[in-house]
Formats: sequence, C-alpha cells, structure tokens
Amino acid sequence: MSHAMAPRGLACISALTLFVGVCTVCLPARAQTPAVKAAAVAASAARGGSPWTALEHDGLHDPANPAIGLLQQPGEALSALPRDSAGNQVRWVQALDQGVIQPRANLSASTPVRVRDQDIIISKYGSMPAVLFPHRQHTLWLDCANCHDGLFKQQAGANRYSMQRILDGEQCGVCHGAVSFPLTECNRCHSVPNSSLRGRPDVGPVRPLVEVKP
Ligand code: HEC
Ligand code: HEC
Ligand code: HEC
Repeated sequence: MSHAMAPRGLACISALTLFVGVCTVCLPARAQTPAVKAAAVAASAARGGSPWTALEHDGLHDPANPAIGLLQQPGEALSALPRDSAGNQVRWVQALDQGVIQPRANLSASTPVRVRDQDIIISKYGSMPAVLFPHRQHTLWLDCANCHDGLFKQQAGANRYSMQRILDGEQCGVCHGAVSFPLTECNRCHSVPNSSLRGRPDVGPVRPLVEVKP
C-alpha cells in the first residue's frame, strides 16, 4: 500500500466516531453546518487553494526546521494522480488501473502474488443501498492474509457486520477512514440499489484476472 495514504485518515475516523455518538445517519448533513463549513473554507484558504496541506502547516512537521525544504510537498507528489473529492484527494484504484502508478507487487520474488476478482454483496436488508465488496480492488493492493481469516471469515454470509463497529474502526473501518477512502463516502460501499437486488446472486463469479507483474 502507498505510504502516502496513511496519515490524514486517522484524524478523520476519530471525527466520525464523535459524530456517531450523536446520530449515525446524519453525518453528511452535520458536515454542512455553518461552523464546519467556515472552518473548511479557512483551512482551504490557508492552503492557497490546493486541497493538500503544505508540510509546514500540517501540524506534524516543524516549520522552523530548515530541512523542511528538502521534503517533497504532498501537492507536488499527488497532483499528477487521478483526483478524488475525499480523503487524501487521490482516487487510488483509478491511479492503479490507469497505470499512472505501478507499485511493486512483492518485495521478494519468491512471495506469491495472490489476486481475486469476485464481488460479494454483504448487506441487503437495510435503509441504505446494499453494500458491494469488490475483491479485485482490494487484492490489487493487499494480500488475502490482511483480511482472511482474522478480520473476515472466508465464506459468504458467515460474517456479521455493523456500521457502528465500522465507524469505531473495526471490520471495513480498520482501513477505511485510516488508509483507504474515508467513511463519509457512503455510496462507494452502499453502491447497489435495493431495487436491483431481486434475482441477483449475493456471490458473484470468480473472474479470471491477469496476474499483477512483480
Ligand atoms: C467502507 C464501507 C462503508 C462505508 C463507506 C459506509 N458503510 Fe454503512 N455499512 C457498511 C457495511 C459493510 C454495512 C453492513 C452492516 C449490516 O449488515 O448491518 C453497513 C451498514 C449500514 C447501515 C445499516 C444497514 C442499512 O442499510 O440500513 C446504515 C444505516 C449505514 N451503513 C449507513 C452508512 C452511512 C450513512 C454512511 C456514510 C456516512 C456509510 N454507511 C458508509 C459499509 C460501509
Ligand atoms: C480487504 C479484505 C479482503 C481481502 C484482502 C480478501 N478478502 Fe476474501 N472476502 C472478504 C470479505 C469481506 C468477504 C465476504 C464474506 C461475507 O460474505 O461475509 C470475503 C469472502 C471470500 C470468500 C468466500 C466466497 C464464497 O463464495 O463464499 C473467499 C473464497 C475469499 N474471500 C477468498 C479470498 C482470497 C483467495 C483472497 C486473496 C486473493 C481474498 N479473499 C482477499 C474480504 C477480503
Ligand atoms: C485491509 C484493509 C481494507 C479493509 C479491511 C477493507 N478495505 Fe476496502 N479498500 C482498501 C484499499 C487499500 C482500497 C483501495 C484504495 C482506496 O480506494 O482508497 C479499498 C477500496 C475499496 C473499494 C473500491 C473503491 C473504488 O474506487 O473502486 C470499495 C467499494 C471498498 N474498498 C469497500 C470495502 C468494504 C465494504 C469493506 C468491508 C467489508 C472493506 N472495503 C474493507 C482497504 C481495505
């Protein structure tokens, strides 16, 4: 996984957890409150219109340290990649699919690269559109062992999910909101309209996938 994805999301998930104490489903609405909006506008002005915070303003780097000039700014590193409107503003799956980045699949040639192209619908009965879990987009970045069988049993229907636990940083929330796109992007997971579920199998076919070159 790209290191560039890591730092920002952690703050994001604690903010989400805070909101959820009040109401789970009102997140997007709360994000629009005047105070939050004003803070966002001020923050964006401080960044000079760029969506990426300059290192000297990120609260992590010491702006007085002369070595700060030696580091590459996130805006310079990330602005060439396909844009997102959330998280660290990069649509990482597109960056990979379009070949804009070509990360190594393994460090050692003897480590097998395991990929799987199979979609699974994991939540069908709720107020939200159903959740589609795509294996392909995950195994292009992650080995199976990141999820199986510690986080998720390797059997369709065998896991119990909960949005509250996800917002608390468990299950999908171990990564989403931390190192992958944030939990504010409801529709990226809740992507299948309930009306289109009739007759659709929960477990999709395992499709052949060209192996990622090491
Ligand atoms: C990373 C993926 C992911 C994201 C992003 C996500 N959810 Fe969920 N959500 C899930 C999963 C998985 C479940 C299944 C839990 C279950 O079956 O109850 C779920 C269940 C739910 C449920 C209960 C079941 C239902 O459909 O009514 C609600 C409500 C919900 N999510 C709301 C939201 C809202 C609102 C957002 C955006 C603020 C959101 N979710 C973002 C994965 C996600
Ligand atoms: C990011 C997490 C993640 C990764 C990585 C991952 N899986 Fe899964 N896998 C899941 C989830 C979530 C399910 C759905 C289980 C359910 O229905 O509750 C699942 C289900 C499965 C199933 C059950 C399918 C069925 O027909 O019952 C198999 C088999 C499986 N995964 C194999 C793999 C293999 C092989 C890899 C690596 C090439 C892999 N998975 C990588 C999360 C992951
Ligand atoms: C071990 C880490 C990990 C876990 C656990 C995980 N994801 Fe992901 N997910 C990723 C990464 C990394 C990506 C690719 C980068 C990105 O899109 O931010 C991704 C991408 C996705 C995408 C595709 C986004 C796209 O642009 O095509 C969806 C949908 C998704 N995850 C849903 C889920 C759901 C639902 C769960 C829980 C059942 C889950 N993920 C659990 C790491 C994880």
